[in-house]
Amino acid sequence: MATKVEIYEGAVDKGLEGVVACTTGISSIVDATLCFRGYTIEDLAANSTFEEVIYLLWYDKRPTTEELKDFKKELGKEMFIDPELVKQLQAMPTKDVHPMAWLRTAVSMLALWDKEAQGIDKAAQKKIGMRLTAKLGLLVALFERTRKGLSFVPANSEKTIAWNFINMLFGKEPDAEIVRMFDVCLILHADHELNCSAFSARVTASSLSDMYSAVTSAIGTLKGPLHGGANEQVMLMLKSIGTMENAVQWIKDALDNKVKVMGFGHRVYKNGDPRAKILRKMSEQITKKINEPKWYQMSALIDDTVQKEKGLLPNVDFYSATVYHSMNIPIDLFTPIFAVSRVSGWLAHIFEQYANNRIYRPRGQWIGKEGLRF
Ligand code: COA
Repeated sequence: MATKVEIYEGAVDKGLEGVVACTTGISSIVDATLCFRGYTIEDLAANSTFEEVIYLLWYDKRPTTEELKDFKKELGKEMFIDPELVKQLQAMPTKDVHPMAWLRTAVSMLALWDKEAQGIDKAAQKKIGMRLTAKLGLLVALFERTRKGLSFVPANSEKTIAWNFINMLFGKEPDAEIVRMFDVCLILHADHELNCSAFSARVTASSLSDMYSAVTSAIGTLKGPLHGGANEQVMLMLKSIGTMENAVQWIKDALDNKVKVMGFGHRVYKNGDPRAKILRKMSEQITKKINEPKWYQMSALIDDTVQKEKGLLPNVDFYSATVYHSMNIPIDLFTPIFAVSRVSGWLAHIFEQYANNRIYRPRGQWIGKEGLRF
């Protein structure tokens, strides 16, 4: 006689909607206001740099000038990849490989070149956090250059993450205005309360596994089109719509056919995503700068149509697509760039998880067969 299966009778919150899974002091979403450590995203986008935001997320305070200088110096020291690892990464397949799949593997490999990779105490947390944050952009640039048959451009440790990324990707000194815009994109994407990938990082960390494992989990989670992968899908959609004339009908058909329009809707924001508002302005500005305003105009028309037809507002992924496209960044690198920024938030969540840990172990309500004999 098979033992009776324990049946958990709790209410099921599909997708954990509205479930509060932990306490957090990193970022908050109240109505349509997003704050990192108490500062609004609008304030940070206008007045800070990505490096200051990383510091803020990790240390729960704004850095002083001296602290920021030291922090950037420490980050700069980690802006390298062991030459042997570079060789191994250059030997990995890139053709017909999604860059996020490559990045997930590359981050996992980074751990094999870090003798301290298993450390999770406070000193190790900041050291490894610095390594992961400094190296992620290098990895994405290495991927791009490798698949184009180009050599790896070493980072300049005196420069910022944003400057280095653009410089390494294109192999030439970047335009200062583009670097600032890219830096703002990194700020906007740095953290977002208990989003799917941050939760995934926290779940892995909650088993007291190491930080490379937690970040690898998060990259796999961010990759999905319902999360970070949406920004690529937005640009593919805009390209497939092609012209302003096609846009309204295309969207109506998609909605009639219950096809999700990428870059719209949000689990938490029902009155609009504040990041989308900032990105909308950037999209208008940059598409004008490169003389291709049609991408912004088409996006704005789609934005109006989706609002009118379905009452949905754009999220962070909608206008970031045209911003990155205008920077000449290949579409399939949009999600890896999200990771270059979000790694800072994942790490803040991992530190917070380690500091007040209890393993995540929810229940599943049993709906399967019972009492069978094999
Ligand atoms: N396009 C069309 N309809 C959408 C939609 C979209 N982008 N987002 C949500 N909806 C609709 C759903 O079809 C559903 O409609 P219904 O009640 O008529 O069935 C309703 O809105 C609720 O959507 P649901 O998928 O249950 O919301 P969620 O909270 O589970 O999911 C997202 C949130 C973000 C995953 C969802 O809005 C989505 O898939 N958006 C597109 C992907 C995207 O941009 N992701 C990036 C998020 S930052």
